[in-house]
Amino acid sequence: MHTSKFFAFVSLIVGAFAPPPKHFLNWVCTGQDSDDIPDVCNNMCYGATCKSLPVQMYWDQPDSTTRKRRGRNAGCGTSHTCSSGQQCDEYPYASTSTADQVTAVSRCVPRDQNNRQGQGLRQFYNSQGSFKGDGLGGNKGGYTVGFANAGTIQYCIGTNCANDGKEYTRNGLAKRDRIQRRNAGGLYKLNNGATFYAPSGAEVGDIVWTPKSHNKTLSLEMSKSHVFDPDQGLEQYEYMMFNMYTERSEVVGPADGDEA
Ligand SMILES: *[C@@H]1O[C@H](CO)[C@@H](O)[C@H](O)[C@H]1NC(C)=O
Repeated sequence: MHTSKFFAFVSLIVGAFAPPPKHFLNWVCTGQDSDDIPDVCNNMCYGATCKSLPVQMYWDQPDSTTRKRRGRNAGCGTSHTCSSGQQCDEYPYASTSTADQVTAVSRCVPRDQNNRQGQGLRQFYNSQGSFKGDGLGGNKGGYTVGFANAGTIQYCIGTNCANDGKEYTRNGLAKRDRIQRRNAGGLYKLNNGATFYAPSGAEVGDIVWTPKSHNKTLSLEMSKSHVFDPDQGLEQYEYMMFNMYTERSEVVGPADGDEA
């Protein structure tokens, strides 16, 4: 066998057995940033770290009936309702089949934060146009959830998993699985200098996608003025996508400290 062919063959074999890199969707929780979603992060972290819910999601492109059923299953509009100005946020996301496999949690969050999360998911799932190939590129698929800038968010960095009175399941107020948040995983350094928190851990070479906006002022304005339509899915955020992109980075190793 010719040498270059031989090496191509070896790398094919090694590639077949090396685990493929994980793809993370990285939520920026706090900071002077229109991507901020502190209450949404609190709900996600409560699910991921206090309720031991999965952090690996599968986007199955659900229709509106399925999405609404997932919302009700998480307690949205069933075990609790949100006041005007707030919206019910579910974890795992109603856009994923992961929501069907567990007892999901939900929390009322400010509307604009829910819209910002929707913008981020839309961008990550569809990533068309100049960012085609980033994120899921419009195809059903799996990914893992991570967090950046968790600041002082209780369920992301605190140790106390007691319900703050705002976490629900379809059975009423959520009961924590753990007294303290899950301590697996940790903080990791990325090749762009940032750090992120992976509740399930990460490996060198894992790919981290962070939804971002070009003009943060505009993004903030749009998320505040957007009127949420429960009959539509994430496509209702399509008109905001020209202002969004998905930043790609890679895990280079663990960061010092254990807090996100
Ligand atoms: C960003 O958006 C705001 C609000 O629409 C606008 O006033 C501003 O000019 C934009 N900035 C840039 C650099 O385009």
